Amino acid sequence: MNIQMVDLKGQYANIKLEVDQAIQEVLDTTAFINGPQVKKFADDLAEFLGAEHVIPCANGTDALQIALMSLNLRLGDEVIVPCFTYVATAEVIALLKLKPVMVETDPDTFNITAEIFEKAITSKTRAIVPVHLFGQSADMEPIMEVARRHSIFVVEDTAQAIGADYTFSDGTVMKAGTIGHIGCTSFFPSKNLGCYGDGGALYTNDPELASTIRKIANHGQAKKYHHELVGVNSRLDTIQAAVLGIKLKHLDQYAEARRIVAAAYDKGFADLSWLQTPVRQANSTHVFHQYTLKLANEVNRESLKAFLAGKGIPSMVYYPVALHLQQAFRTDEFDKGDFPVSEDLCERVLSLPIHTEMTEEELNYIVSTVRSFKND
Ligand SMILES: Cc1ncc(COP(=O)(O)O)c(C=O)c1O
Repeated sequence: MNIQMVDLKGQYANIKLEVDQAIQEVLDTTAFINGPQVKKFADDLAEFLGAEHVIPCANGTDALQIALMSLNLRLGDEVIVPCFTYVATAEVIALLKLKPVMVETDPDTFNITAEIFEKAITSKTRAIVPVHLFGQSADMEPIMEVARRHSIFVVEDTAQAIGADYTFSDGTVMKAGTIGHIGCTSFFPSKNLGCYGDGGALYTNDPELASTIRKIANHGQAKKYHHELVGVNSRLDTIQAAVLGIKLKHLDQYAEARRIVAAAYDKGFADLSWLQTPVRQANSTHVFHQYTLKLANEVNRESLKAFLAGKGIPSMVYYPVALHLQQAFRTDEFDKGDFPVSEDLCERVLSLPIHTEMTEEELNYIVSTVRSFKND
């Protein structure tokens, strides 16, 4: 057995004919930049998401940066961001000379909550970036309610949760990323909808924001060589759009494959008192970008990791250091101990392999190996 965290080779093998043909079409036409596949993919993704506008860009980090650039924020304005997330979410805030205001995370769902959000609001708060971590949507209805009350922009980081459905109290269902003012996603190869290089997109239902975002992503211009805004160059390559166009057709089936793996893990570990399987966020489906265990305090995570590695099972720690403790984001305002939930998660989480081509044999092997671990 050759168990991978993510099996991109196996996934490619299953769609090789379709993908090769789509790439070949781009090669034949040489429309490498802004070829028709880019618009077609954006339209298809908009339909899949139920979003009015999808603007493709070069990667998920750019998507977040462009989103914040489009909101007319001013130097020093505060943007709330969880400290238990991938660095990109906070990086772009700092890069734009805005102030990242780090906040805690829910200890069970690993997502930000409306209560955490509201407590961090000051007179300078202009935006929040909720991250739908590991594949399920944060509880967006109360988050939007707080945001509306305080006139705060909501930029959803949906890099890990594309396709997750969020259900409102009136029964309305919306895709994660289409609820706030802007949603951002990444098509990094290992993402649930991953291309064969870098890629990203922004979504919005607001036509004015969509128009500004389009301009910013294209050097601030709507008309060639007429630059209304200071922008960036952030495009999705036509080859990547062609690959994504094929993979989008499989996305629901991919999510289902991941859910089957997650359900088997849940069942296999249900009686183990030394770990907590992923707690489902009420009102959201889970697309399992990661299957992340929370280990009991007494479990030696490094021993478990080494034990699994010795048996040919990879595992990963997402994330080992909370953002407020990263050297790049250190300030006098925060120190170790200030975000105990996030710091504790950094010491106790462990993600197991999960992907779309996992076999029953691999799954059973992982479950029985984890079960056989004896803590020292
Ligand atoms: C939560 C989160 N936000 C942002 C990003 C950035 O995406 P990219 O790597 O495409 O720039 C990622 C992925 O790496 C991510 O996991």
